[in-house]
Amino acid sequence: MSLLQRPRRNRKNDAIRSMVRESSVTPHDLIAPLFVREGKNERTPILSMPGHARLSIDQLVTEARELYALGVQCVALFPAIEAAKKTSDAREAWNPDNLNLRAIKEIKNALPAMHILGDIALDPYSSDGHDGLVDPKTGEILNDATLEALARQSIASAQAGVDILGPSDMMDGRIAHLRRALDGEGYTNVSLMSYTAKYASAFYGPFRDALDSAPKKGDKKTYQMDPANGREALREASLDEAEGADILMVKPGLPYLDVVYRLRQHSALPIAVYNVSGEYAMIKAAAERGWIDGERAMMESLVSFKRAGADIILTYFAKEAAQLLQR
Ligand code: PBG
Repeated sequence: MSLLQRPRRNRKNDAIRSMVRESSVTPHDLIAPLFVREGKNERTPILSMPGHARLSIDQLVTEARELYALGVQCVALFPAIEAAKKTSDAREAWNPDNLNLRAIKEIKNALPAMHILGDIALDPYSSDGHDGLVDPKTGEILNDATLEALARQSIASAQAGVDILGPSDMMDGRIAHLRRALDGEGYTNVSLMSYTAKYASAFYGPFRDALDSAPKKGDKKTYQMDPANGREALREASLDEAEGADILMVKPGLPYLDVVYRLRQHSALPIAVYNVSGEYAMIKAAAERGWIDGERAMMESLVSFKRAGADIILTYFAKEAAQLLQR
């Protein structure tokens, strides 16, 4: 046959495929989320996230060193706070001696070059399990009162040495409020990676198990976005840009690749995507049963984020992917 176009020519062998490849994943693209617990020499496995554990701070430092040696230059910390320290005003969030802030200081002491992303939201510290403060009478999640608490949490994190703050609470006006609060205290170098489009998702299940942070009442639909909405993400992105965000994030990842793509077209800011706990758990569970090839499914997911336009990927696969890339 006389076919002028034979796209298969560009796929005929490994050499040509790697020359025409449009996207790639490197360890520098990855941020590793890690769970922290009290104690010494402790690694408590998280059953719904095979390969992950709640780490005591000494183990956390060991893990951070291993990640850094593999080329992963940023970790995101999530503390498992003891139930007795959770209150309705979540004041433990800005206690300078709390687990999260001690963990930040210890990693920075041991490994100053490692970037630390500190999550900003009240849920790990809240007896209600919500990201914001709850009106005890109506159950409403209070926007403006929450901003004050988040500013306290942000300043405390900056004092402990955090490099980037990731507000994951989805309150209105938080980026501007936190930027002003940080700048007012002289922390002009602390970056804001906004959870711009964070959806009310079923894919956070394993994470809430890991931190025992599920809402005690209701759900998060009055602040996290409706999974049916894409245009609304552009509105959130415009606000975050105007309010001074340095990086925009989409969360979850795989079910929201269209949102990653739309933000990439819409904004000149770097785009991050959070490949969340449920996405990790699904691949691990299917691979354990021999139903899919876990390593290939992992790398295919990660490259799909780059193809959609993400610059940065938060993923529980960070270590495994970096090890595979090193081989
Ligand atoms: C809460 C927060 C959540 C995650 C990160 N920060 C859960 C939630 O909103 O309930 C989920 C991450 C994951 O599932 O991997 N501020």
